[in-house]
Amino acid sequence: MNYFQAGILAPLPLAARHLFFSIAEGDAHGIRASLDALRGLADGDATVVGLGQSLTLALGAQIQQLRVFPGSSTPDADVPSTPAALWCWLRGDDRGEILHRSMVIERAIRPYLELAQAIDAFRYKTGLDLTGYEDGTENPRDAAAVNAAILQNAGAGLDGSSFVAIQQWVHAFDRFEAMAPHDQDLAIGRRRSDNEEIDDAPPYAHVKRTAQESFEPEAFLFRRSMPWNDERRAGLVFVAFGKSFDAFEAQLRRMTGAEDGIVDALFRFSRPVTGAYFWCPPWRDGRLDLRALGS
Ligand code: HEM
Repeated sequence: MNYFQAGILAPLPLAARHLFFSIAEGDAHGIRASLDALRGLADGDATVVGLGQSLTLALGAQIQQLRVFPGSSTPDADVPSTPAALWCWLRGDDRGEILHRSMVIERAIRPYLELAQAIDAFRYKTGLDLTGYEDGTENPRDAAAVNAAILQNAGAGLDGSSFVAIQQWVHAFDRFEAMAPHDQDLAIGRRRSDNEEIDDAPPYAHVKRTAQESFEPEAFLFRRSMPWNDERRAGLVFVAFGKSFDAFEAQLRRMTGAEDGIVDALFRFSRPVTGAYFWCPPWRDGRLDLRALGS
């Protein structure tokens, strides 16, 4: 029996929809009723749920470690913080079915929570980023994945939680395509042709910046990113689950050059336009476990 939402560690689906809700009416009673309704709809697998800090505070509860996404801004790396109250990650293999499920959720939690943003995501080939590079290769597996992504030994109501960081990145394909293929490989730090890591990649290479074992303490993340597009733009919905936000924050700091002034080469052809943190409640008796919120 899972004590965490099974969709967190499940394989990536063919299609997904990310829903971000904001609080429309700050009435604790109504918000609690909305969450109850959502509990009846979310199975933790095809629908993974995360709560933002504003939502837990509206219910008079504080989840230790849950905080607001840290934005930062430098000329070469703008990282916006765009908090939301609630995130639902709808996963499946049929976009129509996902869309219908998303409308059911929207209706069920109105008028207290209203949809602020929706992003449709999809699998590209075998799980590639739209630049053609395989994404997720160095994700921890099996027990190591659980250790990285799921909070344990924190007590009832918290064991089985996960903390998720989500950013919508917009790729500048013209800039990426203007780079020579070898420079593209150096920017990522892996060869697109065979996904081999380039040992002597420069320090600005993405996988050099984020090498999980190079942090003290080691900064393992469980990434579940997928490509997205709308009528004009496209990129990656970056999704990283952790037992806290610490590993993500350490990586992001290094990517933005906050440690040594070296900015991750990803920023040369992509930029985040959103950034938010959510607490994914544990799973118990076939439902979201909201004991930490006093429910
Ligand atoms: C446009 C956004 C991004 C793209 C296209 C991207 C793409 C990639 C690719 C292609 C890899 C190599 C294969 C793999 O191990 O998955 C990778 C590795 C990785 N990325 Fe990203 N990434 C993005 C954003 C981020 C962000 C924001 C973070 C964390 C703050 C991050 C953390 C990591 C980590 C931890 C690894 C594995 C490093 C290792 O231990 O080898 N990525 N990414």
